[in-house]
Amino acid sequence: MSQKPLTSPDFQSILAVRLSRRSTLKGLGLSGAAAVLSGCAGTIAASGRGQGMSASSTLTFKELPHALDAHFTVAEGYNAQVLVSWGDPLFADAPRFDPANQTEQHQLRQFGYNNDFIGFVPLPMGSDSSEHGLLVVNHEYCRSGMMFPGSPDELQLSEEQIKVNIAAHGLSVVEIKKQDNGQWRLVLDSAYNRRITPNTPMQMTGPAAGSQRLHSQYSTDGVKTRGTYGNCAGGVTPWGTILTGEENVDNFFGGDFSQSGEVENYQRFGMQEVFHSSWGLLDKRWDMRENPSEPLHVGWVVEIDPYDPHSVPKKRTTLGRYKHEGANVFINRDGRVVAYSGDDQQFEYLYRFISKGRYQPDNRKANLSLLDEGTLYCARFADNGSMQWLPLVFGQGPLNAENGFQSQADVLLDCRKAADLLGATPMDRPEDVEVNPVTGQVYVMLTNNSRRTEAQIDGPNPRAKNLAGQVLELTPPQGDHSADSFSWDLLLVAGRKGDAGTHYHANISDNGWLACPDNCAFDNLGNLWIATDGAEAFGVADGVWATEVTGDNRALTKRFLRTPMGAELCGPFFTPDAQNFFCSVQHPGDGSSYDNPKTRWPDFRDDMPPRPSVMVITKQGGGRIGS
Ligand code: FEO
Ligand code: CA
Ligand code: CA
Repeated sequence: MSQKPLTSPDFQSILAVRLSRRSTLKGLGLSGAAAVLSGCAGTIAASGRGQGMSASSTLTFKELPHALDAHFTVAEGYNAQVLVSWGDPLFADAPRFDPANQTEQHQLRQFGYNNDFIGFVPLPMGSDSSEHGLLVVNHEYCRSGMMFPGSPDELQLSEEQIKVNIAAHGLSVVEIKKQDNGQWRLVLDSAYNRRITPNTPMQMTGPAAGSQRLHSQYSTDGVKTRGTYGNCAGGVTPWGTILTGEENVDNFFGGDFSQSGEVENYQRFGMQEVFHSSWGLLDKRWDMRENPSEPLHVGWVVEIDPYDPHSVPKKRTTLGRYKHEGANVFINRDGRVVAYSGDDQQFEYLYRFISKGRYQPDNRKANLSLLDEGTLYCARFADNGSMQWLPLVFGQGPLNAENGFQSQADVLLDCRKAADLLGATPMDRPEDVEVNPVTGQVYVMLTNNSRRTEAQIDGPNPRAKNLAGQVLELTPPQGDHSADSFSWDLLLVAGRKGDAGTHYHANISDNGWLACPDNCAFDNLGNLWIATDGAEAFGVADGVWATEVTGDNRALTKRFLRTPMGAELCGPFFTPDAQNFFCSVQHPGDGSSYDNPKTRWPDFRDDMPPRPSVMVITKQGGGRIGS
């Protein structure tokens, strides 16, 4: 990895700079938030009244205690329904799940494995229904030892098991409806229901489409392509499509790539010769010796129209090729579409895309190609609380032939290299990036980075050996998301309460601390709901914490739910009325095996392994989640 050492001051002086900037901003009346950092290993003390939760708090639910057990648990007064689990039928004619005898044909008609991102789009299209819609879910990856009897190693699968494994990736689209009794159900005879897999025909669009570098025996034109996998997080666009991020796609390939013509790109992407997945053993598509350009077909953001079950998913190359956590769209006040996305790896970058065209609320057809033209930017942070967006445009600055770029297609295909050359700031694993719908501020979940050294700490990444992550807040000037320069702040620095370097509201409870923020969602009041992936390393279950981001209760995180052991929590998503909260329990029982699982959640049946599942949380008696 081309990691330049950062010339950063140490943590103390960074915080000192942050403190003085905050007081300066406050003096100028520019600080949106009322909190100030109180010290190096302390907490964020609320200003004004400051002590305890304000009576006007919008998050009054009774906090759940930390624990680590075999169950999914939500705060008192809430119902948690298992909406759909791995293997559940998605079609009226789909076979019942039989884990001991799973086949590819069955899996293609059933819900996939390791659900991650969840999007909900209302039915009918254009409505704001919170009781009827389409659920779109990513299936990021498989753990064969948890899926098949005998707990096989990844490289010792039968041919049929490899095909099951492949078919369990991609996405599921399924119509769902809330019944009079408050329970949600799948509509199995819906014409919308669909499985999207690593073999679904797709299309490359935007500047890299048709690039000679994408030509292969499967894609003779560099435009047509097949399938999506490694789908981590994503977003829902205002025109009702789904964006899904292809993240750790290197894991699916193997084989010597020294003759590929892409050595620099593949090394920068972390491709390895050794096979970690069985896919390349079955199909030479994933063997770089035979198909040297195939990896360039993944690592994109894919746009899917769930309202048209026959639509061909589009890989939007304008958003660049890297390990996309996801992508979230915001309509700027001038109508241009802004998409934020993180490259989820240690020391990788944060990106922003701005469309050339403008969103037209009454012209869905036009909106469907908005993501094909525009400018991609990478982020560079300064320790004084400012940041800059640097355009990734062929011919500008170092992005020229001298550095190996012949076209914009090359800039997008070699996005990491281009951002290296521009001097983007290496981050602590940027995951979900979302815009607060109430304040317009942007929040970045930075999960962790155990490899950051003391010499590499900087403002937004203020800890060496960062095991617990932080939440970064970006503020566009006067709410203009197209501005070249934003200001930034840390909402919180995660970790066990009281640990050196952590920062929260002074009054978080013993259960309010969290670790490894990964995905997030905002409710319709602008409260931030943070999902974690890695709290188990701190002895507590992953889950969801909620906090207000402005006012007296800023960074006063409260635990709302816990996952069963081994699982991370992802995909949090609210219905428009904020009365239904969807979330993904991914890899329950991880670290054990099919034959000897440490939990059998959610079925707790001896003949059933733990199953990744989508949950829907509602308040008993109805009402807004969190209050
Ligand atoms: Fe798939 Fe970034 O976690
Ligand atoms: Ca994630
Ligand atoms: Ca994750």
